[in-house]
Amino acid sequence: MAAVTGAMRALIVDTDARRAEVPDAQLRPRDLHRTLPGYAPTPLHGLRDLAAELGLGGVWVKDESWRLDLPSFKILGGSWAVHRLILEQAGRPVAGAGMSELLAAAAELGEVTLTSATDGNHGRGVARTARMLGFGAVIFVPEGTAQARIDAIAGEGAEVVVHPGNYDRAVARATAEAKAHGRIAVADVALGDDDVQVPTWVMDGYDTIFDEADEQLSAPPTVVLLQAGVGAFAAAGIRHYLRAAAGSAPLPRFVTVEPLSADCLRVSAEAGELTTIDAGHESIMAGLNCGTPSSVAWPTIQAATTAYLAVPDELAREAMRRLAEVGIVAGESGAAGLAGLLAAADDPEVRAELALDADARVLVVNTEGATDPGAYEDIVGRRPEDVRPDPEPA
Ligand SMILES: Cc1ncc(COP(=O)(O)O)c(C=O)c1O
Repeated sequence: MAAVTGAMRALIVDTDARRAEVPDAQLRPRDLHRTLPGYAPTPLHGLRDLAAELGLGGVWVKDESWRLDLPSFKILGGSWAVHRLILEQAGRPVAGAGMSELLAAAAELGEVTLTSATDGNHGRGVARTARMLGFGAVIFVPEGTAQARIDAIAGEGAEVVVHPGNYDRAVARATAEAKAHGRIAVADVALGDDDVQVPTWVMDGYDTIFDEADEQLSAPPTVVLLQAGVGAFAAAGIRHYLRAAAGSAPLPRFVTVEPLSADCLRVSAEAGELTTIDAGHESIMAGLNCGTPSSVAWPTIQAATTAYLAVPDELAREAMRRLAEVGIVAGESGAAGLAGLLAAADDPEVRAELALDADARVLVVNTEGATDPGAYEDIVGRRPEDVRPDPEPA
């Protein structure tokens, strides 16, 4: 294990990803997602010029800036978890069920209120899912959440409560109030050993991104960079490739990317166990401002991750501008995967560990569009609609 210093913090771990235990996927979340209104696979863009500049075989961006009519991937997890919860509560089978079975089950349950805590995107996905099903929604956001993100959640018809504390505390409050008021909690993070089922389902739902990418890439990636808040998105990506490579097929190297001020995965990896840090909301990568890894994501990440990178906000801004140059609208957290690649390619030790060379095929995911359009314009110098006039998938 070696720590690399500089503008980013990096931890390289000698790991054998095949040791990671990954449960079989009995159900395919994409079977639900393809029945939801507005479903289409999101585009995959090849960045030829950047690959040449960095001396890599190829760089691809899976672009989640517009997913199911929302500017982030997060609804994939919330909708899948709610699907499983509601069908189970209604005593209906989940296998083979799509939107129409979900609507029928929801109608049987009558009045339901969904709740969650969020840095923005997850809560909006839960609020949209609630609206689709005719449910109410109460969404908690930590203080400091951008007004544009609050307004977007309220615009889905949800009640938004600003909690005076960080993300972890907003999560605890959403869970406590759910129990007190009989709401259904749709948490994207598990804190400890209790209430792990729903966060596991949320994580499972992200699989659709990688399932689509398999069809869009002509050969599997050799390196996958996954930006992380609580780590559910990263673990979902890792699990997907571990399942796909069961047997002897080659596995990509996995890299997590976090903000310098909220690198709870990197700190946990260094400590050798799940560790909470005091993350505030300093980073502009709002979706990644998390202080505690999800207990259902951490074992997968710990077993399989080769490099834990923590990057400064300036690198996220740089990555946003790079993506805008090629017509991709990426918000601050969305661009973090590419920010990690820029940092990794620039660091000889990390570059060597990840075999970032002329044979490397690198996958990053743009996990959000311009979820705070004012901040986007300040950083990129153009409005999101001028960078990509039509946000519908290509
Ligand atoms: C845009 C975006 N990207 C990445 C993430 C990270 O996901 P996770 O918290 O599962 O690590 C989030 C989380 O909210 C997000 O909003």
